[in-house]
Amino acid sequence: MTEGATHPATAKPAIGFPKNAWYVAAYPEEINDSPFARTILGEHLVFYRRGDGMPAALQDTCPHRLAPLSRGRIIDDCIECPYHGLRFGSDGKCNFNPHPPGTIPVKMAVRRYAAEERHGLVWVWMGREDRANAANIPDLSYLTDTARWRTVHGYFNLPCGADLMIDNIMDLSHLEFLHKGSLSTGYREDTRATMTTSEEGGNVRVSWVLRNFVTTSHVREVNDVGGRSDSYRDSVWIAPCIVRNELVQVPAGTPRDTGRQRFNTHIVTPETHSSLHDFALRSRNFSLDDAEIDRRLLEGQKPVVVDEDGAMLAIIQQRMGDAPFESFDPVMFHIDVGAVRVRRILDRMVADEADGAS
Ligand code: FES
Ligand SMILES: [Fe+2]
Repeated sequence: MTEGATHPATAKPAIGFPKNAWYVAAYPEEINDSPFARTILGEHLVFYRRGDGMPAALQDTCPHRLAPLSRGRIIDDCIECPYHGLRFGSDGKCNFNPHPPGTIPVKMAVRRYAAEERHGLVWVWMGREDRANAANIPDLSYLTDTARWRTVHGYFNLPCGADLMIDNIMDLSHLEFLHKGSLSTGYREDTRATMTTSEEGGNVRVSWVLRNFVTTSHVREVNDVGGRSDSYRDSVWIAPCIVRNELVQVPAGTPRDTGRQRFNTHIVTPETHSSLHDFALRSRNFSLDDAEIDRRLLEGQKPVVVDEDGAMLAIIQQRMGDAPFESFDPVMFHIDVGAVRVRRILDRMVADEADGAS
C-alpha cells in the first residue's frame, strides 16, 4: 500500500522525527511466529517472523473494519484478521477471503514496512519504501561482537516524548542531581567537568572530562576503579534517535586509552509524540564472562531509566501536554549545546521531508 495510508486518528500531533529513517522496533527474541504489536511514530504496526526467518512488518489495522491484526494468528506466513478472517501476506496484500464468493477488492491491503534484523536488533523503515536501504542502518556492530564485547539489554516503555529523553542523555550534567546516589556521588563534583561539543559525519558528540574525582559506588562495582578517578563520558547522537554514552574511567592521572570501556546505548524509538520505547543496552569490553556484572548492570537499569529519568520526564511531558517543547520558549544555556544541535538537525530532517528533499 502507498505511504499515504496513515491512520487519521494518530496523524496528530506532530512527533518531530523523520519518517525516512531506520528505527529500532524490537529485540529479535520478541519477534516470532505469533503476531507482535508495537506502535512507532504513532503508527500501529504488527510484526511476525516468516518461515524463512525474516521479520515481517505490516500496518496493524485491518482495512475492512479496523480490527487489530495483531490479535489474529499467523497461518502460512500470512496474518489472519481476528474479526472476519481475511488473510494478508507479508507483502500486505489480502490473499484470502473466507466469505463466499471469496472476492478480494483491489484496495484490500495493508501497508507493508521494510524490516531488517541487524546488530541484534529488528529495524523498521517508517518512510517511503523505495528509499529503504539496509546499508544505511547505523553501524552498532559492537552489540554482537561477542569476542570483544559483552552486551546485556533491557526494554522500557516510558510516558514521555523521545525528544525529551534524547535531550536528557545528551546532557549528562544532570547526573549528580537527578541520579544522586545511583550514577553520581552527589558531591557536586560533576559540575567541574569540562564539556566540548563536535559534529562528525552527521553525529553530534558531547564530551565531558572530569579529573581526580571520588569514584561512585555504582561505577566502582562495575569498573573496579577505587579511590579517585579520571572520567571520560561522551554522548554520541546517531540520527534520528540513538544516543551512545561512551564511558571510560581510569585511576586519576592514568591515560584514557588504558581504561576499560563501557558503551551504554540508548535507543529511544518514539511510540507516540508523548511516549517512547527505550531499548537500553549496556556493553563492556572487560570481564566478558562475569555473570555478576551482567546482573548488576541489568538491575541498575530500572532505578535510573524508569524511577529517575523516566519519572522526571513523565512529569515534564504531562505539563507540556500535546504542545512541542519549543513552544514553551525554554531558556537554554551551555550545558544544552549538544541537545540543541540535535533538535536543529532533527527539525531540518523533518522539514526536508516535508519539502520532498529527502
Ligand atoms: S475487520 Fe478484518 S476482516 Fe473484518
Ligand atoms: Fe539521566
